[in-house]
Amino acid sequence: MRDITKKREQRYSYGLALLRECIEKKRLWTNNEDEKKAVLRVENIDLSFGDLRALNNVSVDVRGHEILAIIGPNGAGKTSLLNVISGFYRAQRGDIYFNEEKITRFSSHKIAERGICRTFQNIALYSGLTVTDNIIAGRHPHINYNFLTGMIYFPWANREEAYQRAIAEDIIDFLELEHVRGSVVGMLAYGLRKRVELGRALALEPRILLLDEPMAGMNVDEKEDMARFIIDINEFLKIPIVLIEHDMGVVMDIADRIFVLDFGNPIAEGSPEEIKQNQKVISAYLGTG
Ligand SMILES: Nc1ncnc2c1ncn2[C@@H]1O[C@H](COP(=O)(O)OP(=O)(O)O)[C@@H](O)[C@H]1O
Ligand SMILES: [Mg+2]
Repeated sequence: MRDITKKREQRYSYGLALLRECIEKKRLWTNNEDEKKAVLRVENIDLSFGDLRALNNVSVDVRGHEILAIIGPNGAGKTSLLNVISGFYRAQRGDIYFNEEKITRFSSHKIAERGICRTFQNIALYSGLTVTDNIIAGRHPHINYNFLTGMIYFPWANREEAYQRAIAEDIIDFLELEHVRGSVVGMLAYGLRKRVELGRALALEPRILLLDEPMAGMNVDEKEDMARFIIDINEFLKIPIVLIEHDMGVVMDIADRIFVLDFGNPIAEGSPEEIKQNQKVISAYLGTG
């Protein structure tokens, strides 16, 4: 990942300025001390599918605006944990708090409205729509008029639409998708589709971003680009990011903290240095390569 720093220095004049403004307006905390606080608290989660225990008494905090990586072998429960947080699965036990609000029983829709935004291990986009339209689709909870009034001519509706398009363009520019903005998403290469999916999650104005293997199936160059976007988002928007990732090089490079799951059990939590040296982690995961 040697090129990340260089690539980051070479780029653009403004990063996500409009989006940053939208998020800042709604931000709850302002001072630095509060940035150490848990934004998301996962407490004692049990999740079973029949006899299979996918998550066993899992607790973890996501703090301030850290990048928290979740690692573990296939089937460890990583995706299930994101599904519980985002309301797609219901845990049998335990609670989830977001900015001190209990969201355990909220619908996935309501959770997304709170600003808990995610991408999926298997890309979930409107494959028949263009890149721009997929990203604008992510704006819909934030659009102040319905599209019908937008179709008839109202000056304020036009202004609103122009504003929404400007935010989408801001995101397209940031993710370096200008050259494909009018392309139908289904026709794009895999790495670009992953990038569009990230763009749509950004359009939702995330207050926390949950990324499920955003770099899976990418080549080294694409991975470096994705890593750079993640670091930039974290820095520009000052939001925490939860990242499920198998590439340990990437994880060690960009994570502030790492949480390790094995067969649904939390086995370790700590800085990249601590995790590298943790015996349980080495035998459960790192050692097996
Ligand atoms: N909807 C589901 N129905 C039944 N079993 C599931 C379901 N989702 C996940 N599982 C099971 O839960 C375990 C954890 O899966 P998952 O969270 O996808 O792991 P990971 O993302 O760490 O690879 C696996 O054994 C998987 O087969
Ligand atoms: Mg998974």
